[in-house]
Amino acid sequence: MSDIALEVKDLVKSFSLDGATINAVDQVSFQVKFGEFVALVGPSGSGKTTMLSILAALLSPTSGQVLIDGQDLSQMAEKDRVKLRREKIGFTFQANNLIPYLSARENVEFMLRLNGKLDHGSRIRSDELLARLGLAERLHNLPAQMSGGQQQRVAIARALIHNPALVLADEPTASLDTERAFQVVETFANLIHENGRAGIIVTHDLRMCQFVDRVLQMQDGKLVRVYEGKKEIKQLAMAGVH
Ligand SMILES: Nc1ncnc2c1ncn2[C@@H]1O[C@H](COP(=O)(O)OP(=O)(O)O)[C@@H](O)[C@H]1O
Ligand SMILES: [Mg+2]
Repeated sequence: MSDIALEVKDLVKSFSLDGATINAVDQVSFQVKFGEFVALVGPSGSGKTTMLSILAALLSPTSGQVLIDGQDLSQMAEKDRVKLRREKIGFTFQANNLIPYLSARENVEFMLRLNGKLDHGSRIRSDELLARLGLAERLHNLPAQMSGGQQQRVAIARALIHNPALVLADEPTASLDTERAFQVVETFANLIHENGRAGIIVTHDLRMCQFVDRVLQMQDGKLVRVYEGKKEIKQLAMAGVH
């Protein structure tokens, strides 16, 4: 088996707006290995959410290729893409999209149910995961009975519970206070590393980069810089401390 979980080749996504075409993602190529946690950073409008939506198989690219665990998304029938998204990808987006009438535990278990994997063992894992994210007391709460930050953490648990090959998180710490944000990203990093998944986190907070193995910086849809190695990443994370 290859150690490459995700391969992005010459990816382009254009949008037409008022007669003009903008390249939200412009000729981007990179790879992420199993067990590697990567941050995607860049100013607002640089194409981060568009990139993540394509990787989550929620949006088709204009051109280029995305291979997840060796499978080319563009070469798959829609029903196979849906299956791959459900089984191999976990994601949490800015709007956490929890199901309002399900409790924290039920929201997490929902992913297992979809995959036909809900049993006694997986319920214990789901409660353990919620506990690791600081939600042991919140298993039976509905989203409306939790703070924005707690809801965000439920969404993170839901993205991880089915042990996907690729975990995608768009600004998962946006509604968390600083200390909680550090804890959540550190736990996230540990779960990626422990289980040999590939993870991509979008963040505008450079301090969060201290927990990742590599940082991809986007600007105007292009991948403009890669930071790697402990020292270089630490310098970048320190630059984010105000
Ligand atoms: N559905 C869309 N239609 C037209 N333009 C879009 C659409 N989605 C994103 N864009 C544009 O693509 C660019 C990148 O957006 P986005 O991926 O949301 O950036 P980021 O997440 O880095 O803030 C922006 O200029 C944005 O306005
Ligand atoms: Mg965005």
